[in-house]
Amino acid sequence: MDAGMLALLGKTTALMEHLGFLWVVQTGMELNLWAELERDGSIDDLMALHPGWDKILLDHWLEQAYCQDLLIKNNGYFRVTKLGKAINKYRNSGLEALYKELVSHWGIEFAELPQLITNQKEKLAFGSDMEEELISKASLASEPFVWPFLRSKCQREKWQKVLDLGCGEGLYLNKLACEFPLLHGVGLEMNPVVASRAQERAKETGGRIHILCEDILSLRNLHDRKQQENELLADAERLLDESGTFDLCLLNNSIYYFTPEQRIQLLESIKGLLTPGGQVGILTAVRKGEPIRVFRTHVPQNLMSFFLACHQGFQGLPTEQEILTLLQQTGYTDVNISVMPLGTSHYFFAKCSHECSEMSR
Ligand SMILES: C[S@@+](CC[C@H](N)C(=O)[O-])C[C@H]1O[C@@H](n2cnc3c(N)ncnc32)[C@H](O)[C@@H]1O
Repeated sequence: MDAGMLALLGKTTALMEHLGFLWVVQTGMELNLWAELERDGSIDDLMALHPGWDKILLDHWLEQAYCQDLLIKNNGYFRVTKLGKAINKYRNSGLEALYKELVSHWGIEFAELPQLITNQKEKLAFGSDMEEELISKASLASEPFVWPFLRSKCQREKWQKVLDLGCGEGLYLNKLACEFPLLHGVGLEMNPVVASRAQERAKETGGRIHILCEDILSLRNLHDRKQQENELLADAERLLDESGTFDLCLLNNSIYYFTPEQRIQLLESIKGLLTPGGQVGILTAVRKGEPIRVFRTHVPQNLMSFFLACHQGFQGLPTEQEILTLLQQTGYTDVNISVMPLGTSHYFFAKCSHECSEMSR
């Protein structure tokens, strides 16, 4: 057989295996099968629990989960493997949202690529399920890498006032406040449904974290706004109004929402909110022009960039160099780049020097 054909068939088989994994994991989460199979169960036990289900399809699901090393099988009884158990354990840490996003959006939207590339179709718009739930929740999947890094950095730098722009579920502000009793924070999140979940979560911090449902680009307007509707808002907006207040401003997985021009404007506005020597932290997956061939760690990031770019208002992920140039161009110094484990994201930290925060006032 022609070597090209053989390689192609190999890739296609691997693709089907990966798709099988995706569909079986997502269906198991949606139907709560990973929890139900934490103890031994046969197909008849499952059918007795769910008499309305299709037995042939359930049989195929069990078989596929077994082939994918997610279930072990013994005398007609199934039980989760360590991998299957992990799905249930970590489903609320971003995994469920990520898998749902892949199943319900990526495949369907990439199917429009020929029309999108040839401009026969307008760029896509994210649906409300994506904006109100899946995007912000899927972002939590990087927490096991990001949080230990952020925590030890906060310990060293002794940040006490933190601004989180595009805070999503507000996870990092909350974790910082729980870990460091003197820390206060403000989060800005423009989606009202996401912001209200973050506000709910922030209650755990006894009033040290405030979430505002605001567009980041209105940062300057927030400075000018005089009318406050309730005490919580008043507190948070007072913090924002006090120029030079924050030791740290986070832009975690939100920089790619902005055009290159808006990023410059944003980084300039942030300088006015930071204390002299205050820092900006930009967490983002980056697009690589030349994926590293040996480990191919950039295939998912570049695919995410491709997916984002199919949507209105997005140009894909930035490159490492673009973020570096942005920080230098807007006068930040001491730029430090840390690559998160598995190469999933880069964390860029940079300082707003005394002169640069003075100049922006
Ligand atoms: C990918 S999520 C990241 C959430 C969180 N920072 C994290 O890392 O887990 C990006 C969030 O930024 C919010 N966002 C995007 N553009 C925004 C803007 N202009 N103003 C406020 N929030 C924005 C989105 O609604 C979304 O919840």
